[in-house]
Amino acid sequence: MFDFNDLRKKFFDLLDGVDNLKKLEELRIKFFGKNGEIKNLMCEIKNIATENKKEFGSQINNLKSELELKVSEAKKKLHDAEQNIRFESEKIDISLPGKYKKLGKLHVLSMVENEIINIFIQMGFEVVNGFNIEDIEHNFTGLNIDEKHPARDEQDTFYIDKNHVLVTATSPIQIRVMEKRKPPIKIISPGTVYRSDEIDATHTPMFNQVEGLLVDKNISMSDLRGTLDLFAKKLFGSETKTRFRPHYFPFTEPSAEMDVSCFVCKGSGCKVCKNTGFIELLGCGMVHPTVLKNVNIDPDEFSGFAFGMGLERIAMQCFGINDIRLFYENDLRFLEQF
Ligand code: DAH
Repeated sequence: MFDFNDLRKKFFDLLDGVDNLKKLEELRIKFFGKNGEIKNLMCEIKNIATENKKEFGSQINNLKSELELKVSEAKKKLHDAEQNIRFESEKIDISLPGKYKKLGKLHVLSMVENEIINIFIQMGFEVVNGFNIEDIEHNFTGLNIDEKHPARDEQDTFYIDKNHVLVTATSPIQIRVMEKRKPPIKIISPGTVYRSDEIDATHTPMFNQVEGLLVDKNISMSDLRGTLDLFAKKLFGSETKTRFRPHYFPFTEPSAEMDVSCFVCKGSGCKVCKNTGFIELLGCGMVHPTVLKNVNIDPDEFSGFAFGMGLERIAMQCFGINDIRLFYENDLRFLEQF
């Protein structure tokens, strides 16, 4: 009779050397595979005397069940061990302090700009962006700033070449838009502007403005006043009062400056408003007929108003900032306050 113990011993010797799932699988195939030891043993049945076949078969079955059980036990053990190694390597210490990621936020000037723009968007104005470099025609001529006007002076303006400048105001966008479109026009345009000013607490050669323009039939000074008064109330609060002082701009006639009642002392007089009760906010006026003619809009059929304001000035007043340079120094102690 066949010695099953030999085969069993062979299996256990090999199993002793198995230390990972791959080797175990090789062992399994060696014994239970298509040409494995157990299969070969079964083929032996035909050589066994008939009276012994039953006994032989049952021995094979016993051995097969025993070894299969060992394989599956070993498999579970190795699997658990490998998983433990993985868990160990992936273990995280949840008691460690977290990595603090500082979140950025908008610059205070961007916040103020967004607030201003949003007020005008709510009133139906459309945002249009201008350029940093403009030609003389759009920066000056179209806006009725004639050749002798001091604004054209090289002392105030950065010239790129004879015909191009760094924009000195956001106003050229008025010309750009009116050249391309016919009224009704209702736009708001934020932008960076440049003037060759000496740097001090209230001047920088680069600063930011927001321009507005509305052109349609029958637009009058009362539309301008109503719109800008509503804007001031939305920006500074509903008790805010506005007043308009006559002024001069080449591109508007009549022209005015708008003041708002001081949001610190509410008009009674304090340091912020220099005891006047009012703070100067923006320049504005009715679009000059010459400017309309320059862009082929008939001033007898259409009229409009325009306005422009300096972002830094407004932000300085809103937050009591006394030095314009603070906006550009990127000192986090300053920036994080807003
Ligand atoms: N461009 C003027 C400036 O830079 C601001 C301004 C005043 C714009 C009156 C306008 C306006 O559109 O009507 O100081």
